[in-house]
Amino acid sequence: MDGGDIYKASSSLRVNSSSLWRNNSVEVFNRSSHEEDDEEALKWAALEKLPTFDRLRKGILTTSKGEANEINIESLGFEQRKQLLERLVKVAEEDNEKFLMKVRKRIDRVGIDLPTIEVRFEHLNVEAEAHVGGRALPTFFNFGVNIVEGFLNSLHILPSKKTHLSILKDVSGIVKPRRMTLLLGPPSSGKTTLLLALAGKLDPDLKLSGRVTYNGHGMNEFVPQRTAAYISQYDLHIGEMTVRETLGFSARCQGVGSRYDMLAELSRREIEANIKPDPDIDIYMKAATTEGQEATVVTDYTLKVLGLDVCADTMVGDEMIRGISGGQRKRVTTGEMLVGPAKALFMDEISTGLDSSTTFQIVNSLKQYVHILDGTAVISLLQPAPETYTFLMTLFYSLMATLCTRVPELIPVWWRWYYWACPIAWTLYGLVVSQFGDIEELMTDGNNESVKEFVKSYFGYKHDFLGVVAVVVAGIAVLFAFIFAVSIKVFNFQRR
Ligand SMILES: Nc1ncnc2c1ncn2[C@@H]1O[C@H](COP(=O)(O)OP(=O)(O)O)[C@@H](O)[C@H]1O
Ligand SMILES: [Mg+2]
Repeated sequence: MDGGDIYKASSSLRVNSSSLWRNNSVEVFNRSSHEEDDEEALKWAALEKLPTFDRLRKGILTTSKGEANEINIESLGFEQRKQLLERLVKVAEEDNEKFLMKVRKRIDRVGIDLPTIEVRFEHLNVEAEAHVGGRALPTFFNFGVNIVEGFLNSLHILPSKKTHLSILKDVSGIVKPRRMTLLLGPPSSGKTTLLLALAGKLDPDLKLSGRVTYNGHGMNEFVPQRTAAYISQYDLHIGEMTVRETLGFSARCQGVGSRYDMLAELSRREIEANIKPDPDIDIYMKAATTEGQEATVVTDYTLKVLGLDVCADTMVGDEMIRGISGGQRKRVTTGEMLVGPAKALFMDEISTGLDSSTTFQIVNSLKQYVHILDGTAVISLLQPAPETYTFLMTLFYSLMATLCTRVPELIPVWWRWYYWACPIAWTLYGLVVSQFGDIEELMTDGNNESVKEFVKSYFGYKHDFLGVVAVVVAGIAVLFAFIFAVSIKVFNFQRR
């Protein structure tokens, strides 16, 4: 930090001294840029004098030629929006964090605390009464019988034939803001049910007991649907709508939430403290709170962050219409909720069916959002049943055990290549062959066999092979180190 400052100071000194020698044309150029700055400052001053309602609908937009113009946010055109986003977030992976940091800095500078949400759940029990087997099928007969049965049940004439299912049993926990919470579980372990219960969207037929609170307030004290967003594991969309339309529609349905009040307070404090915000960030934040524009500018931003800008104008598609790919559809489902103002996100299996690099990109942008703008997020992931791991590990170990302790000749032919490719087999070979002391000494078991012969007949290990084994063992270590180094350099696993 200090070093950087010294460098800056010295370079500014250099600029000052060199400007002594500059000719007049440079001086003229400098003055004109000053004038432009003055002009912009005047425009800002004019903007600041407007009443709040008008002030939040006007911004200073710098055109591609470098002129600063006052514009009306409501009439921001497609091209202007595109250029604005291009300046703010050019490459989603690299610029998104910087963009969010700028927004955060603007809010911090005037001392506004971003609201955070802490979700607590205590002794949560979810139980279901359901028909099982043939009675659960949605047939006409069952439908009729269910109505009659339901009526008789309510009059206590007939006992209920529904089976009792316990889905969640005494679950407690706290979901903290500013961090990502991961929910792991095999299929049908109740992940979806827990997330729905936390988001206040549980099927009313299910019996819920226990307490869910947001910052200490019970679910009946506010409208959880406005605060929390549940992202379904199923992709349900209107096939005829394009990706941009789908997200835009969703943004309009969810509105701007508390963003407007926050911006009004932010703007008021900035004027008091005489702070001039970054004009691009200012326009983005104003557009995100303006009715009509919020649906477009936030949609464009979300499309970019989720890597959906390539298919923004393609139809989503369904079983009948060929549309975007499965991975893109999954991202549209996520994007649909990200465009809204909800600060508590409950995401159900957002990575199932996605490749690892796309998952990384999405989870990374969520992480940035959660860490920088103090969001709350629970992400559930499908975890393979533990039996799958056990099965795979057992298979692997039994294979290794067989390969490393048997005479190579006794191993089926199609496995022998694996024996020689296995570093453990080589290490074991070297270990045994280099260990025995006097190789010509006779064994004491009375078979008149030297140690060397015994090791050869029993393990199939030849003592003369020791040199080759030593070279291979050393080679494997070198090869591993080489592959490791190349992987770090080329595939760049270390990138954050
Ligand atoms: N509305 C419901 N009626 C009856 N059973 C349900 C209902 N919702 C979920 N279940 C049952 O609860 C269990 C957990 O379901 P779910 O929460 O969807 O699991 P996951 O998301 O982990 O796969 C499943 O066995 C499912 O059949
Ligand atoms: Mg589920």
